Amino acid sequence: MKPDNENLNLGDWAPHEFEEQGQKLIQLIREYFENIRETPVSTDITPKELLNMLDGPIPNKAESFDLTLDETWEKIIPHLTHWNHPSFHAYFSITASFPGILADLLISSLNVNAMVWKASPAASALEKIVLRWITEMVGYDPSSDGVLINNASLATFYALVAARDALTDLEVRTKGLTGRVLPTLRIYTSDQAHSSVDKAAIALGIGTDHAVRIPTDEYYQMIPEELEKVILSDLEKGFRPMAVVATVGTTATGSVDPLSSISDICKKHGIWLHIDAAYGGFWNVVPEIKNKSEDLQLGDSIVVNPHKCLYTPLEVTAMFCRRQGALSNSFRLVPEYLQTENEDGSIDYMDFSLQLGRSFRSLKLWWIIRSFGLEGLTSRMRRSIQLAEWLEKEVNLHPDFECVTTSHFPLLCIRYVPEHLQNIWTELKLDENEESKKYLDKLNAQIMQKLNQSGLVYLSHAVIREGYVIRISIGNIKQNLDDIKTLWDTIQKIAKEVNQDSPSPIMLK
Ligand SMILES: Cc1ncc(COP(=O)(O)O)c(C=O)c1O
Repeated sequence: MKPDNENLNLGDWAPHEFEEQGQKLIQLIREYFENIRETPVSTDITPKELLNMLDGPIPNKAESFDLTLDETWEKIIPHLTHWNHPSFHAYFSITASFPGILADLLISSLNVNAMVWKASPAASALEKIVLRWITEMVGYDPSSDGVLINNASLATFYALVAARDALTDLEVRTKGLTGRVLPTLRIYTSDQAHSSVDKAAIALGIGTDHAVRIPTDEYYQMIPEELEKVILSDLEKGFRPMAVVATVGTTATGSVDPLSSISDICKKHGIWLHIDAAYGGFWNVVPEIKNKSEDLQLGDSIVVNPHKCLYTPLEVTAMFCRRQGALSNSFRLVPEYLQTENEDGSIDYMDFSLQLGRSFRSLKLWWIIRSFGLEGLTSRMRRSIQLAEWLEKEVNLHPDFECVTTSHFPLLCIRYVPEHLQNIWTELKLDENEESKKYLDKLNAQIMQKLNQSGLVYLSHAVIREGYVIRISIGNIKQNLDDIKTLWDTIQKIAKEVNQDSPSPIMLK
């Protein structure tokens, strides 16, 4: 059949059309950011309403992009939770910075695949350089193997695969885990560690029962003595300790495990230490934090997450392993069609994870780090820490609120404990009572719900030993003191309203 060059259903947009639409889009993005403070941070639309509004048949005929763009702004954007919003304080307060956004556009435009060096030399070279920069920024061995992947959960999984395969006598890579007798492998992590450790245990075939949770102290840090006790008892039972996952910046409270003592235990028993510094690692860019921080060098492997605190649009995570060759020992597998000639200095990044096709993530980091400079990143991150310190002080000065935990990082867990209730409970000797704790849990949960329904701020919660707490993450590149003052005013106002509407605590006996 002869190719039909006249058919309009062929080919891409004309380049001028791409440019026109691109300019329109950039203008809209600019306005989105300029007006973001006036935009509700979240939406109250129900899933049903949203699905009814968006659902429809597959368009058979090409539609005008103007219409698609209009509908994106009318129907999609108002119904997002805006993670870029300076009033977004849930999970981790993150931002897509402008250099990162533009880099994403170029990454998609170039569409190169950084799987093997030859497939995209400059993308692989840049990855090597950016990874070295990151080791310097967070304080890790610059000669370690590193790789950029999409998220921290996968990084922990990959690190634990490497840890498992480092037990070479088990020959799991070739012989697998099934149909033969193997010792029970054990992973140890704190009771505050992220659920990704359990997910890794599931995917590794080790099982969640063998991802042992070690108790934490009053500061939510893993207790090394408890770790060693469990390891010794496991050894007696014939279990095989495989890895310890320590955390620098736990999800709920931002606590940091005592790496040095944990590392000593790992060394003594020949156990791999993986450090989940997904949240905490990059704060080492700020010298005051680095001085207080634990030494990431102690990890056989680490993960740090630029998309959590380095103004990098999702998804970029850096994983490093200072046991050279361990990652490729697990993941290097080169079918014939991927055989290339390796010249001195080249790296095939497909060797360090399960991913073959890989986007040009390093460009995003290269642009961000160059555009702000280390100094600029430091001052922006320091600003977030100062804002958190300001808020912590205000909370502690208020008679009705408690700052339940403190962290090096700009992350606060606060709890509303009205002073008049404290007085009544003291009088009735109900203090520390389970009922009063339950009442406060409910009250704080209602406050959180109302705060999020307000559209003025967006927060998430944690349940820790002290009970249900309102968790406040600060870290957006645009956040300023006015934003934090507004947040604090809103919390106080809504807490008071909820408290007034709640039944009298006297009835709580
Ligand atoms: C401490 C910690 N580790 C790992 C993760 C998982 O991160 P990701 O979403 O990049 O997989 C999180 C996410 O909140 C986290 O807080």
